[in-house]
Formats: sequence, structure tokens, C-alpha cells
Amino acid sequence: MHLVDTLNNSLQNPADFAHGPAFPLRPIRSFVRREGRMTPAQQRALTDYWVTFGVDAAAGLLNLEALFGRRSSRTLEIGFGNGESLTTMAAAHPDQDYLGIEVHRPGVGHLLLRATAWQLTNLRVLCTDAVEALNRQIPDAAFERIQIFFPDPWPKVRHHKRRLIQAERVTLLVRKLKPGGQLHVATDCEDYAGVILALFNATPELENAAGDGGFVPRPVWRPLTWFEQRGQRLGHRIRDLLFTRCAVASDPKQNA
Ligand SMILES: C[S@@+](CC[C@H](N)C(=O)[O-])C[C@H]1O[C@@H](n2cnc3c(N)ncnc32)[C@H](O)[C@@H]1O
Repeated sequence: MHLVDTLNNSLQNPADFAHGPAFPLRPIRSFVRREGRMTPAQQRALTDYWVTFGVDAAAGLLNLEALFGRRSSRTLEIGFGNGESLTTMAAAHPDQDYLGIEVHRPGVGHLLLRATAWQLTNLRVLCTDAVEALNRQIPDAAFERIQIFFPDPWPKVRHHKRRLIQAERVTLLVRKLKPGGQLHVATDCEDYAGVILALFNATPELENAAGDGGFVPRPVWRPLTWFEQRGQRLGHRIRDLLFTRCAVASDPKQNA
């Protein structure tokens, strides 16, 4: 077993760490940072267009009204990959604003190319770990919609702890939604779909848009992404989960 696994597992038994670990633990991430192949165009986009669309990951809590220069209905997409869904939706709804978070720089470059070609003015991007951004930069009750399309499935059981959607992160995600806002997840991984469904159904602040407590039909307006096409080629069943944050008052202290 990897040293980090050993240490993180032992955190489940605080007695083992009565005096605290001797050095800070590396968090378990939902991604492996691989640069992969960056095309010259993607590299150029990162150099030339980041200034237009990019948001500094070192900045503190974001002021979204200032970021977009207006108050409007907002969507947050986590792990947008090449940005097909985010750019298509931003282009289709110029009256709404879109914030994307993605760690994979070639994907960010791909999105920047398209956002520039389409002259989008309602799109901003963070290139960082979404979990860190949610904890430090994203204000509470700020989005009408949060979408996570085809999160990495991490199929091996020993890797399930790397999955982005985990029990302890559901409350964090829900907090970022406005009351009445929607949390939309799509996946082609059958067991992950079941785990997420059970987690969301067990969250009192979330109400399942599927009357029977199951999955919803694929919404026609959800743009086809690279990973969905891959799932289709492999014959995977695609599952959509759509939940609404119940309209209860949010904590007014957070964004004061
Ligand atoms: C399987 S891909 C799906 C990409 C895209 N949504 C699609 O459907 O084609 C998952 C994406 O999530 C990104 N990702 C995973 N964990 C992340 C995190 N903690 N913060 C930001 N992005 C993350 C990965 O870099 C990857 O691009």
C-alpha cells in the first residue's frame, strides 16, 4: 500500500495520531495531473486568451457579479474537459453566465480557442482543483445550476476514494447552489451512477427531479461531450441525475 494511503487510512483511527502526523498529508485528488499532448493552438490560446476568460486560482472568495459585470442566472461546470458542454450552453444563453473549473490544461486551451472563436462574453474559467476552489473561492448560494458531466469513474475499488463525488462533498456542492437551484450529473459508469443516486437521495436538502427517486431521461438540451461519445461507442448506459436544492434559507454569514 502507498504511504499516503496508509496515512490517510490511519486517520480513521485518531488514536494512532494522538500527537498528529509528523508532516502534512497530501490530499487524495480526483485527478492525476498529466499535461498530455498540448497542441500549438491550445498553447497559444493559453498564452493569448487566458487574460480574457481566466480567473486567478490564487484569488480569494470570488465576487461573481464583478467577475461577469452583471447579476444574472449562473451555471458552474466542474471538470468540463474540452469544454463542449460549457461553450455550447454559454453560446445558447447569452443572457446567463457560466463558470467552468478544469485542471487539464490542454482541455482549458481547447475551450479558450472555441470561446474566442465564438466571441463569448459570458464565460470564465478556473484552472485548478475544483474541491479547493469550492472550499476557498466559490461563494455559497451563488449558482442556479451546478453540472458535472462524466466525472472520472475511477473504476477500481481501491481507487473509489479518488472519485470527485463523495459523501463528504455533497453538502459542499449543495451549499454553492441557490435555493431552488439544480445539481445535474451525467455518467456512463453504472456503479458510480448508483452510488451518486443513493448519496443525493439521502441528502435532505436535495429533491430528486425524477418522481420515482431514480434517474431522469437524458435532457435534449444537454450538449454531447467527448466522454459521452466515448461511453456511447463502448456501449455504456448513460445516466442523468437531476436534483433541486430545497428552498430553505441559506446561511447569511458566508457571503456577508
Ligand atoms: C472523464 S473527464 C469528462 C470531461 C467532460 N465533462 C466530458 O464529458 O467530456 C473528467 C474531467 O474532470 C476533470 N477533473 C477531475 N477532477 C477534477 C477536479 N478536482 N477539479 C477540476 N477538474 C477535475 C478531469 O481533468 C477531466 O477533464
